[in-house]
Amino acid sequence: MTSTIDHDHLVDAKVTTDLWRTAVVYQIYPRSFADSNGDGIGDLPGITSRVPYVRSLGVDAVWLTPFYPSALADGGYDVDDHRDVDPRLGTLDDFDAMVRALHGADINLIVDIVPNHTSNRHPWFVQGLAAGRGAPERDRYLFRDGLGPGGERPPNDWESLFGGSAWAPAGDGQWYFHCFAAEQPDLNWENEEVREDFRRTVRFWADRGVDGFRIDVAHGLRKDMSEPYPPWGEIADLMREDGSHPLWDRDDVHEIYADWRRIFNSYDPPRYAVAEAAVHPARRARYASTESLGNAFNFDTLDADWRADDYRRVINRGLADMINNGSTTSWLLSCHDTPRVATRYGLPLEKDRIAQQVAREWLLTDGVTPRLDRAVGERRARAAIMILLALPGSTYIYQGDELGLHEVADLPPEVLEDPMAGRSTKEKGRDGCRVPLPWTPDGRSYGFGVEGAHLPQPDWFASYAISVQEADPNSTLNLYRRALDLRSQLFVGSGLGWVESESQVLCFERGGGVRCVTNFGSEPIALPSGDVLLASAALDTGGLPTDTTVWLRTP
Ligand code: NOJ
Ligand code: CA
Repeated sequence: MTSTIDHDHLVDAKVTTDLWRTAVVYQIYPRSFADSNGDGIGDLPGITSRVPYVRSLGVDAVWLTPFYPSALADGGYDVDDHRDVDPRLGTLDDFDAMVRALHGADINLIVDIVPNHTSNRHPWFVQGLAAGRGAPERDRYLFRDGLGPGGERPPNDWESLFGGSAWAPAGDGQWYFHCFAAEQPDLNWENEEVREDFRRTVRFWADRGVDGFRIDVAHGLRKDMSEPYPPWGEIADLMREDGSHPLWDRDDVHEIYADWRRIFNSYDPPRYAVAEAAVHPARRARYASTESLGNAFNFDTLDADWRADDYRRVINRGLADMINNGSTTSWLLSCHDTPRVATRYGLPLEKDRIAQQVAREWLLTDGVTPRLDRAVGERRARAAIMILLALPGSTYIYQGDELGLHEVADLPPEVLEDPMAGRSTKEKGRDGCRVPLPWTPDGRSYGFGVEGAHLPQPDWFASYAISVQEADPNSTLNLYRRALDLRSQLFVGSGLGWVESESQVLCFERGGGVRCVTNFGSEPIALPSGDVLLASAALDTGGLPTDTTVWLRTP
């Protein structure tokens, strides 16, 4: 066996096992999970009623994306009030009831903190607009004078991540800056009132029993908005290795998290945090440092194609991060921002574009070209989750992936909700992975609620329904359940050793002689010796078939 990872160093130097270092977290997009009152929108009582289902998966925690009051200009990431519940989703009492139900089932809760921006309906922004040029109320945001005699042109040519200018007019010659939609004005983190308000928000939810936080756009809070502004052409490449980009991943952002860390650690147990930081992989460890947020999503797995080499590279980098920062990493195959994994892996592999890009372009054709092979995608997605669940570190599962659900590609333009769709002709947007879950094979919204669903579900959702999969021992849902159950028994410690194998095969060993073997090749291979503990597909040929992962205990 060739081991490229030093077990002892990993185990005793810095990485210890506590809940959050190894937690499996189930991501709930609340508007699309379960609708309790038939208005077509998923809600908090809906989640509470489905806690037994979440419990049956065997996950350690739920991450709930924003449920705060919002006009939904960006799926709830346009927050009107960071310390309340959207009335369409419930009340604070419903929130408390949900926390009790989750905790009663031994499930922790993570909620989003959205500190980079508010919505344009937030009282602060409304006041800022009304107060006029130079008013202190404007200092909570990034207002700047426009160019031209009356300020009729934006201050510079910077672009929003959702397309178009990053500036919107205030109507009086000033403009305000927004990295995302115009309905999401960026906050000014140099302003002490802003800092104090978010301390309050963190404490507000921690006091209500929230166990952890997912920090939205964690790499965006500090900005160098000094003049002269560099032209967009010089800064359009957002990832830098040296922290010198004026808008993203500046070193001093960690001052904010060191401050929050004191708050997190003042609770017993300390509150957990995970960064959404789209930064150069070499800079991710800063966010995962125990002095900063303590954990960061490992987005490399979202970009990995279905190739043994991609997985080897991404795993090695993630493990090196864990060793170097004494923390952990969070693997994931999908989230509410990416085309679903079963779909990415069911489209043809291309040399010069990653599967995410291929899937996004496929969405622009409403899923017509290239041809999606649903069965292949599901088979690979099953093999992939078994790899992730066998790794040291934490894993996030996006709702519906446990059903092998595919992206819904043919949503008609008039139902699309995502701002990316309307504003950018290069993107159909992210609605295709946010279609409400099918719970039953029938009913107006397949058991999501008693009436319809806010995004239409396709007919093929019926065969993916939870109740259908519960009855099928070989379903993806039952594979997830078995894998999660076994994971907690098999994969303790934090060491991982690579086992030499042919290039199309990924093989690593964890403690106790347990191996994870995946055949990425197009032909079956001989099954390594040992007792098979779990396989992502039937092993009826006697070997390890293509696109299959097996966990086995070597003699
Ligand atoms: C990241 C969130 O995951 C995404 O859904 C949102 O659009 C942006 N942050 C802006 O808040
Ligand atoms: Ca509802």
